[in-house]
Amino acid sequence: MNFFSSFQEKVQLHAASSTTTTKVSVPLVLLAAVGGLVVFNWALSILQLVLDLYVLPGVSLSKFGAAKKGQPGQGAWAVVTGATDGIGKEFALQLAKRGFNVFLASRTTAKLQAVQEEIGQAAPGAKVDWFPIDFAAATADDYAALAKAIGDRDVGVLVNNVGMSHNMPVPFHETEDKELENIVNINVFATLRVTKIVTPGMVKRKRGLVLQLGSFAGQFPSPLLSTYSGTKAFLIGFNAALGEELSRSGVTVQLLNTYFVVSAMSKIRKSSALIPMPKPYVANVLAKIGRQGGAQGRPFEGTVWPMQGLFDWIITNLVGTRYRLSFTYDQQASIRKRAIRKAERQAKAQ
Ligand SMILES: NC(=O)c1ccc[n+]([C@@H]2O[C@H](COP(=O)([O-])OP(=O)(O)OC[C@H]3O[C@@H](n4cnc5c(N)ncnc54)[C@H](OP(=O)(O)O)[C@@H]3O)[C@@H](O)[C@H]2O)c1
Repeated sequence: MNFFSSFQEKVQLHAASSTTTTKVSVPLVLLAAVGGLVVFNWALSILQLVLDLYVLPGVSLSKFGAAKKGQPGQGAWAVVTGATDGIGKEFALQLAKRGFNVFLASRTTAKLQAVQEEIGQAAPGAKVDWFPIDFAAATADDYAALAKAIGDRDVGVLVNNVGMSHNMPVPFHETEDKELENIVNINVFATLRVTKIVTPGMVKRKRGLVLQLGSFAGQFPSPLLSTYSGTKAFLIGFNAALGEELSRSGVTVQLLNTYFVVSAMSKIRKSSALIPMPKPYVANVLAKIGRQGGAQGRPFEGTVWPMQGLFDWIITNLVGTRYRLSFTYDQQASIRKRAIRKAERQAKAQ
């Protein structure tokens, strides 16, 4: 009897304890479900990142009017701004090799002639035309002349490449007025004006590709480069709005979110996995049109150079804005110190 009642007691206690366990476990189950969803979401995001950067191809350039192989000169035109050096020159060369005729809009006539010659050798048969324009000082008449020079060509691709940064990192209150004005004229107004000249034809033909050279300095506000950073941030907003508008007319728009590339502007001479030469950088862009890489969740943007895409994804997802600002300040302050020392050395040597 004693044994029976003690057994009954144990069963009741067990039942009571399991009821309690069930009650306590509801929030735990919810928490596990939310955790599972977060992990699943991250896994999907990482899978998409890897596929975009390393596996999936971009949209074919034939969609934008590239000539078929063996028919140079028969394709649509590509307009490239700032086309005599660095990234812009590579776009001009590679687009010509891939079946476009190219129209170069840049500052220095002698350099335009040299690039025309270089394209003639690299892509025989491709037509090359150019128009000299200083986007820092261009007036309404200059833009009208540019529009006239482009005329009614069938433009399939526009690369809004021309850009200017600060001579060296500088506190905003010490920025020279002329530098500030030039940066805005080149990075903002030239992009707006040239886009306004070229896109009506694309809309009419319901075909085209507009690429904008964006910068990490636009995505992540960069102290001591505040004017440059602000103009590149402008491009992000402009690009997304334009992208949605033009998508309704079959025109593709993409901002190329770019970290450093070896060039005169970046003043970097040695390439690395993170900082490519213009040639492989541009080849990769042209192979990945429409892919977002590290720019997930940001419509009409792409960070498709593999290490830069990973870098973008990591900073966006894992690093807080406050830390990014103070890190970038320290980084740019150190670059400024070195640039000032170099300028002093050069002044002494003269
Ligand atoms: N390089 C990087 O690390 C990096 C990073 C992020 C974004 N970006 C962006 O990529 C784009 C190209 O940069 P990049 O490094 O290739 O530059 P770059 O090597 O300095 O070449 C600039 C090109 O633009 C032309 N240009 C400069 N000022 C001009 C003006 N006032 N009017 C007309 N043409 C002008 C230059 O012509 P001249 O030869 O006559 O001077 C040259 O052809 C820029 O929009 C830049 O913001 C570059």
